[in-house]
Amino acid sequence: MKFFTVGILVILTLSAQVFAEDKLQEMVDNTCGACHLTGKVSKEKLERMTAPPMWGIATKIKAHIQGEQEQIDFMVDFVLNPDPKKMLFPQETIARFGYMPSQKDTISKDDLQAIAKYLLTKHY
Ligand code: HEC
Repeated sequence: MKFFTVGILVILTLSAQVFAEDKLQEMVDNTCGACHLTGKVSKEKLERMTAPPMWGIATKIKAHIQGEQEQIDFMVDFVLNPDPKKMLFPQETIARFGYMPSQKDTISKDDLQAIAKYLLTKHY
């Protein structure tokens, strides 16, 4: 009986985690995904992409910034207060895609923290 209970608890915890990650992925697709390429690549997504792909951003951040929390902080700060001076991508990116508008009004800081952590530590 004890093993059964523990088993059920493990399954519940794991499915809660999967559920939380599905929700985060959905948030990413609905917010960042309007411009950045996120999730599975498809021809249709490539055609409507108006910002650098999210895996590219995650890779750049990890290559340039030390420490998991510092990487999350960079992403959160950039999304709320984007500034060409803070960019890790070359300035030519702006010529190709334009500037990123602040997402202050479309996403709460708490959601953004969760998204940044998910993208940088789980997804890419
Ligand atoms: C309205 C379109 C749009 C949305 C929505 C958007 N972005 Fe961006 N983002 C851009 C563009 C365009 C750039 C490249 C130019 C620039 O850096 O300003 C960019 C650049 C970035 C960079 C900086 C890359 C560098 O050079 O260091 C980060 C980080 C980023 N986006 C994260 C996000 C995240 C996370 C979300 C979702 C919460 C998001 N963006 C939503 C358009 C968007």
